[in-house]
Amino acid sequence: MTSRSVALAVLSVIALLGALTAAATTGTPAVDVEAGRRKAEVCAQCHGPDGNATAPGTPSIAGMPAFYTHWQLIMYRDGRRRDPQMTPFAERLGEGDLADVAAFYAAQRATARPASTDPARVAAGRPLAEKFHCTSCHGPRLLGQGQVPRLAGQDFDYLMKRLSGYKAKSASDLDGMMTMVAQGLTAADIESLVHFMASLPPAP
Ligand code: HEC
Ligand code: HEC
Repeated sequence: MTSRSVALAVLSVIALLGALTAAATTGTPAVDVEAGRRKAEVCAQCHGPDGNATAPGTPSIAGMPAFYTHWQLIMYRDGRRRDPQMTPFAERLGEGDLADVAAFYAAQRATARPASTDPARVAAGRPLAEKFHCTSCHGPRLLGQGQVPRLAGQDFDYLMKRLSGYKAKSASDLDGMMTMVAQGLTAADIESLVHFMASLPPAP
């Protein structure tokens, strides 16, 4: 990927973020975090009561930007993102539930997932996150923003599955940016980046 196309990609993410903000602030009812907590009770068996999951392969959603969670739930519900465990639960959420649930998880504090990261891989991954502009979209400490997810301290197996999925062009992708970014990564880059991301503190 050329640096010009990355610059354009970053700009279009910022534009999409503006569009989503405008959509969310016009005429939508106020979100209710307490209602979100009740509606998320069925999610706890996999994601934990506060959105900190423990099973390898299941993402933690505590501290995720609310827009990101909201849009991913829409994509599971519409069938644009598929997962045998996740899809049935997203399908049961009503229109008014998505924003409440997303706001509830955004308000929870993320805790680190246990991961046996290799210090040499972590050191190799750190400069790659700058080189491939991961930090331009996901934030300087990869904590996420707007429709861009938090990567810091996320489950190792899940990060590996998602990043490899974008590279293989088989992962769902809201705006196509990640599929484009991942094409420039080698298998070794992906491995190092996952060690690096999993080693970072998940909360500010
Ligand atoms: C039976 C286990 C299970 C239950 C119950 C469950 N999930 Fe999930 N969830 C998963 C798994 C596994 C994934 C990762 C699937 C994938 O790779 O797409 C996931 C992914 C997600 C994601 C995407 C996270 C990201 O970083 O992209 C969100 C958001 C989410 N779940 C929200 C919910 C909500 C809200 C509920 C309750 C209404 C719920 N889940 C119930 C297992 C579950
Ligand atoms: C142009 C902006 C942009 C850049 C640059 C970027 N990302 Fe992303 N990333 C996104 C967006 C937007 C998503 C959500 C896409 C979706 O709907 O699946 C995402 C999703 C992800 C996910 C899935 C997380 C989850 O919770 O499911 C991973 C892993 C990821 N990015 C890693 C990276 C890495 C590593 C780099 C650098 C090599 C990078 N990203 C560069 C915008 C970007």
